[in-house]
Amino acid sequence: MSGDVVLTHGRVATMQGALIDDGAVVITGDRITWVGSSGDRPSAASSGGSANVIDLEGRLVTPGLVDCHTHIVFGGDRVDEFERRLAGESYDAIHRSGGGIASTVAATRRATDDELLATAADRARQLKAHGATTIEIKSGYGLDVETELRMLRIARQVEQIAGLRVHVTFLGAHTVPAEFRDEPDRYVDLVCDDMLPAVAREGLADSVDAFCDTIAFDRGQTERILRRAKDLGLPVRVHADQLSAIGGAELAASLGALSADHLEHASRVGLRAMADAGVVAVLIPGPSLIDADAPRPNVSVMRDVGVRMAVATDANPGTSPLLSLPLAMTVACTRFGLTVDEAWQGATTNAAAALGSAGGVIAPGVPADLAIWNATRPAEVIYWMGADLCDRVVIGGVVQ
Ligand code: NIG
Ligand code: FE
Repeated sequence: MSGDVVLTHGRVATMQGALIDDGAVVITGDRITWVGSSGDRPSAASSGGSANVIDLEGRLVTPGLVDCHTHIVFGGDRVDEFERRLAGESYDAIHRSGGGIASTVAATRRATDDELLATAADRARQLKAHGATTIEIKSGYGLDVETELRMLRIARQVEQIAGLRVHVTFLGAHTVPAEFRDEPDRYVDLVCDDMLPAVAREGLADSVDAFCDTIAFDRGQTERILRRAKDLGLPVRVHADQLSAIGGAELAASLGALSADHLEHASRVGLRAMADAGVVAVLIPGPSLIDADAPRPNVSVMRDVGVRMAVATDANPGTSPLLSLPLAMTVACTRFGLTVDEAWQGATTNAAAALGSAGGVIAPGVPADLAIWNATRPAEVIYWMGADLCDRVVIGGVVQ
């Protein structure tokens, strides 16, 4: 193992207290071993004189961003639907006319593994170029056993190809595929009896998600799928109350889910139950960039009940073709009303919690995943809308 890496003279935002104005971070192997003022840095780091000392010259250093909700493995694109939406057609109407998720499912089934991997890795590299060191990737555009498992394997491979950490989520219950339209419960059987056991047996996913909504699965079907996942030892999350209020937040709480995501129509009771159960609320600002009238989550109720809030890109070909988590943070502030601090917690600590991890902070003992910015304070990264301020990232102690 190489010697220590020492970052000095940075402005360090640990996410656990005030900004350290002239700070240093010491990394040993793949972990952070010390953080504090540059002047107090232990002179004899464990590797003696062999440390690689990098002078940040006043740049901001933060935990690497964690994008806890993406759908970046898919075939084709939906540029045509984007134009239809600009002309006034709704997402729901496009979905009901056979477009939406179904059109991406058809393109994904047709695509080769190489095509899916190359395009997903490109998208992951973009997210990383904007400061992400960990991303979550969901399946959900296969909706048959073979293509769903293929998507999960490809999502895992993105980790190597794009060089960042990937949390893989099985979303076989993204919507009911056309061939099961008249008997959705038979598709739920397929997910529970065939897909989930294979996913668990082969260790293909780190968690399981389901889309609980009027255009996807009702509360009972979602519960059946997610209880089966839990029985197989997999943590669960829910696409909840995005298009309508159908009790997704309450369900996430009763299941002890890692997160409930979207929540634009979640009830106060549901959000309070989430807070009590420790379920993270993942906010999705991307759709507001396409449709200024898109419903917004009730952030003041979320604050009131004390539910932890995360922010994610939801990068996907339909509702959120967004590959910059800092831009999602900007929109979370400007459209949803988050403070700068809440947006940063939401893209680091709380996003890590949504993936079942205690990371997303700069502290001794945690993995050395950092982002270094051409900026001097956290608000600047949010203020420069859509800019590319990430100088470089550090992942597992490796400066990239
Ligand atoms: O997170 N909510 C469901 N799934 C995606 C949309 C996917 C698509 O339109 O392809 C979402 O918004
Ligand atoms: Fe999503």
